[in-house]
Amino acid sequence: MSSTDRDSALRAIEESLDKPSAARIYDYFIGGDTNYAIDRAFAEKARERIPLLGEYCRTSRQFLGRTVRWLAGEAGIRQFVDLGSGLPTAGNVHEVADEARPAHDTRVVYTDNEPIALTHSAMLLADTADPERHIAIAADLMDPDELWSRVMATKLIDRDEPVALLVNAVLHFVKDARDPDRLLEFYRDHLPSGSLLVLSQMTNENPTSDAERQALEDLADYYENTTNPGQLRTSEEFARFFGDFELVEPGLVYAPAWRPDADTLFAKTPSESRVIGGVARKP
Ligand SMILES: C[S@@+](CC[C@H](N)C(=O)[O-])C[C@H]1O[C@@H](n2cnc3c(N)ncnc32)[C@H](O)[C@@H]1O
Repeated sequence: MSSTDRDSALRAIEESLDKPSAARIYDYFIGGDTNYAIDRAFAEKARERIPLLGEYCRTSRQFLGRTVRWLAGEAGIRQFVDLGSGLPTAGNVHEVADEARPAHDTRVVYTDNEPIALTHSAMLLADTADPERHIAIAADLMDPDELWSRVMATKLIDRDEPVALLVNAVLHFVKDARDPDRLLEFYRDHLPSGSLLVLSQMTNENPTSDAERQALEDLADYYENTTNPGQLRTSEEFARFFGDFELVEPGLVYAPAWRPDADTLFAKTPSESRVIGGVARKP
């Protein structure tokens, strides 16, 4: 990293610390160590209203792990683009993919617009990954043209080979007012045939009580105080983001019901998890 790049990264980090950030709050909830007092205070306050919020975050992360293992294994995918990849922690996409494919022939492009997530991803990759196959780049998923040209500029993605596009636990940070349909349409259009799209988000579907319904509404309001205000969705509202892609079994479901394994939280009661997700293939 040049000294100018380092200075601007440090400036971006300093400027990002006056508000909690979704990347760092999530990192705190899933047991990572790249979060600050402002994020932890926010997380604990949110947990007072939604006691299982940490478990919902871990459920999202587990869903990511299971889908990547399936994509790299059974589905034979060798290239991954991760939108809103977050802070590196246990079970990063390139690690799970390498575990599933002992030939270590997968390539991963991580993208995020959170300065601390980026700096830590770059540091982790520099220490532990293969620079020929793994890279973390700064990109705002709200600017798909720019993001996609940066992804292609890495030269890690072959535009003729199926890609797994991961948008995990991210779309609840894109309110309908910001036109997520336009974004998803762009990304779906730019994937080669046979590509797979992984989407998940937090849901407000079927709350178990009026109190829970209210708490979920309050949670969305509370996130207005972070760098990432958001919106929960039901599966009916969420399904449209897959466009005409074909959902693979078991479809769009509560995340714990997607090919659960022995470690899956809420495996016996998926609808209590408050996370929905699915994987769909481009025809
Ligand atoms: C809850 S975390 C999920 C991280 C990771 N995808 C996972 O599943 O473990 C949400 C991530 O989305 C990122 N994000 C939110 N809005 C974004 C945007 N407009 N462009 C890029 N990343 C964004 C946040 O910075 C954060 O890292």
